[in-house]
Amino acid sequence: MNRIKPDRQLKAVMDFLAQLRKHIGLSFGAEKRYLVESRLSPLAQKAGFTNVHDLLIQLNTSVVGELHWQCFETMTTQETQFFRDGFFFETLRKEILPALIQKRQGEKKLKIWSAAVSTGQEAYSLAIFLEEQFPELKSWKIQILATDVSDKALQVAQRGEYEIQDLERGLSPLQITRFFTKGPVDFQIAPWLREAIQFQKINLISAWPAESSWDLILMRNVLIYFDQSTKNKVLEKVSPALADDVGTLVLGSSETLIDFPKLVRRSAARGFFYQRQSVEA
Ligand SMILES: C[S@@+](CC[C@H](N)C(=O)[O-])C[C@H]1O[C@@H](n2cnc3c(N)ncnc32)[C@H](O)[C@@H]1O
Repeated sequence: MNRIKPDRQLKAVMDFLAQLRKHIGLSFGAEKRYLVESRLSPLAQKAGFTNVHDLLIQLNTSVVGELHWQCFETMTTQETQFFRDGFFFETLRKEILPALIQKRQGEKKLKIWSAAVSTGQEAYSLAIFLEEQFPELKSWKIQILATDVSDKALQVAQRGEYEIQDLERGLSPLQITRFFTKGPVDFQIAPWLREAIQFQKINLISAWPAESSWDLILMRNVLIYFDQSTKNKVLEKVSPALADDVGTLVLGSSETLIDFPKLVRRSAARGFFYQRQSVEA
């Protein structure tokens, strides 16, 4: 039984939401109280608390440590799939990559960052896409950096092991045969594809790698969980991190940037490709 008074329960939830926003950027209001309670209840039980509010009170009154991060991670949404959003790949194929390839003919290098990669499908889809659609890039140096704040998601991404249902959400039978091998339990991404990608933990609201001049930064379906001020702080860092000629930021298909003049829409088709203000479209 939960002996904590209802107003203290609400306070515990609200204090936790403030921590969540501060440390990882996720911004939920009181109406998402049920989400906190339902997502964290199993963790509370596992960690030996009698109920989720006891866990929250412990989190709210202690120095941020491993249990906090486990709870923050549990609050993330990791929904993803191979080749998510056909229009994105179509625009990459027809418009974005041809322009990039033309610009980089001299150095034959491309730098791509999948900045909220979740369990890896986004980065592997990109690698498969380049292999299938742009064979001329075989002799190029292609850097694909895949990052996320969630250790758990990154572990899955790095192992590159998926159930057949995950593969069938987005990949054709031919792609499954070509790019995966059947393991004892799951399917495993071909080692050469896994090795083509570097995985790293990066919290978008903390310090970033010093590296810049990204030709493509994918930040799809993550900024939607941030409030406007957090979003703007992240975008302030994206802008100088893009290559200044054709560097492109990609958001999710339902996301648009408002009130951020340093980045402007790039593709006439739909609003989720952006480049720096100074670059001519
Ligand atoms: C819905 S998934 C998007 C996955 C992929 N980009 C896609 O569009 O299919 C959102 C991801 O953002 C990550 N995320 C949430 N907050 C983050 C932060 N502050 N820094 C980095 N990644 C974050 C989550 O861990 C989760 O894996």
